[in-house]
Amino acid sequence: MDSIQIPLPIYFVTSVLTVIFLIWLPRKALPPGPIGWPIIGNMLMMDQLTHRGLAKLAEKYGGILYLKMGFSHTVAVSSPEMARQILQVQDHIFANRPTTIAITYLTYNRMDMAFSDYSPFWRQMRKLSVMKLFSRRRAESWDSVRDEVDSMVKSTAVNSGTPVNLGELVFGLTHDIIYRAAFGSTSHDDKEEFIKILQDYTKLFSAFNLADFIPWLSFIDPTGLNSQLSAARDALDCFIDKIINEHLSKEKKTGVETEERDMVDEMLVFYSNKGKVNEAEDLQNDIKLTLDNIKAMIMDVMFGGTETVASAIEWALTELMHTPEALKRVQQELTDVVGLDRRVEESDFEKLTYFKCVVKETLRLHPPIPVSLHKSSEDTKVAGYHIPKGSRVMVNAYAINRDKNSWEDPNTFDPSRFLKTGAPDFRGSNYEFLPFGSGRRSCPGMQLGLYAMEMALAHLLHCFTWELPDGMKPSEIDMTDVFGLTAPKAIRLVAIPTPRLLCALY
Ligand code: HEM
Repeated sequence: MDSIQIPLPIYFVTSVLTVIFLIWLPRKALPPGPIGWPIIGNMLMMDQLTHRGLAKLAEKYGGILYLKMGFSHTVAVSSPEMARQILQVQDHIFANRPTTIAITYLTYNRMDMAFSDYSPFWRQMRKLSVMKLFSRRRAESWDSVRDEVDSMVKSTAVNSGTPVNLGELVFGLTHDIIYRAAFGSTSHDDKEEFIKILQDYTKLFSAFNLADFIPWLSFIDPTGLNSQLSAARDALDCFIDKIINEHLSKEKKTGVETEERDMVDEMLVFYSNKGKVNEAEDLQNDIKLTLDNIKAMIMDVMFGGTETVASAIEWALTELMHTPEALKRVQQELTDVVGLDRRVEESDFEKLTYFKCVVKETLRLHPPIPVSLHKSSEDTKVAGYHIPKGSRVMVNAYAINRDKNSWEDPNTFDPSRFLKTGAPDFRGSNYEFLPFGSGRRSCPGMQLGLYAMEMALAHLLHCFTWELPDGMKPSEIDMTDVFGLTAPKAIRLVAIPTPRLLCALY
């Protein structure tokens, strides 16, 4: 019998349709999203995985969307209701963190809190941070905020009448605050070395590595990432080993009990296990820290506490200079509440209603961590869609904080929206406003971060009037941001200070 000859064009079209059908078939129950290619999936869209790129995709696909990145499932969440599903309703399933080869290596195999999965180990690290490291009772951290803000005001006053790079000023400030809170030292040389290590870590954390998405291609390392990773970790080892040894010998000589304790001292108690047994919360009995834990935790504190706070202060000043009526109003409030014959103090804050709204509005428009990363620990369903175990879930706080169904004129800087009764708060139960996240993995450094932000901002606004250089108009200020671990201003804010208080600033 003659075999049936299928014409070539029909054969070709049928094959293509079959492939498309096979790609589409298993996605049926997944959230909507752009169709990907075999094997690489949506990896050609990698550059769109930023807060802005994902917000754009959400306009087309909705509050929950799915992307296949090589072999990894990625889900982006961009609406308040979907965020509530992830961070509240199914918080227990989405409390893990996705990781990469670089993060695993640089955190000593996830020996920290921020990148470890939700586990008994994470709970211990969280307890340690909340009760010891970032606790309001650790007065030394709050003291270091006040002292460093003081020296920032002095150095700004010295430069009055000349252009000040406010971005550099506030990034320097937060490095000083956190460096001192962590290590107790203010040595400038050491700090410069440490900032260089932090910058290398930041670059490596966000470096693209094909092996994260297609593991069997791990032998391909065109940029020499692996050797950069080991050089960066060696540098950190060398730096922190020295600091830890200094702390151990200081403790032997003098006993830290009598001295100001920094975060390394707090953690070394658990390393050497010399602390008082049976403290009220019984931390001592169940936490034992290795040196790797201590190093990894220090990096959490550094990453969590420096760029976040600095970019929030710079954005607040930028938005105020961009909106002169708001700047005038907040400075008038400072004059009315505090007066011009003394500096602002912590006890003034509760009366600075509009100032607090400026802080909230800045964190709404420019959440310092625009996209937070979670991972599902089991197969589950969200909004009826299947979310496979191990999915990387990107919660886009930037898009959520600008959700047009929740906010009027969402892209406009308008602090007075927070004066309205019932306006959302950032403590985590209003899912349209998530600068600090919500649920189990929400920010443990919120109190310290807000304190540093408010202190620095209030002083800069109360002590000085600010003018743009070279006759620049407010509307000409560059408002673009760059995407990394945080989303700071792309171009630093520069302005000219003039003292506005009747009392001396230095
Ligand atoms: C304005 C200041 C800050 C903002 C807006 C901020 C925001 C955030 C956000 C959005 C998260 C992730 C939440 C999630 O995954 O759902 C986070 C986590 C974290 N933050 Fe902050 N943060 C700030 C300041 C700080 C400070 C000052 C510290 C420490 C000194 C800190 C330490 C951390 C740590 C360690 C985590 C990881 C927690 C975990 O995984 O369990 N943050 N922060």
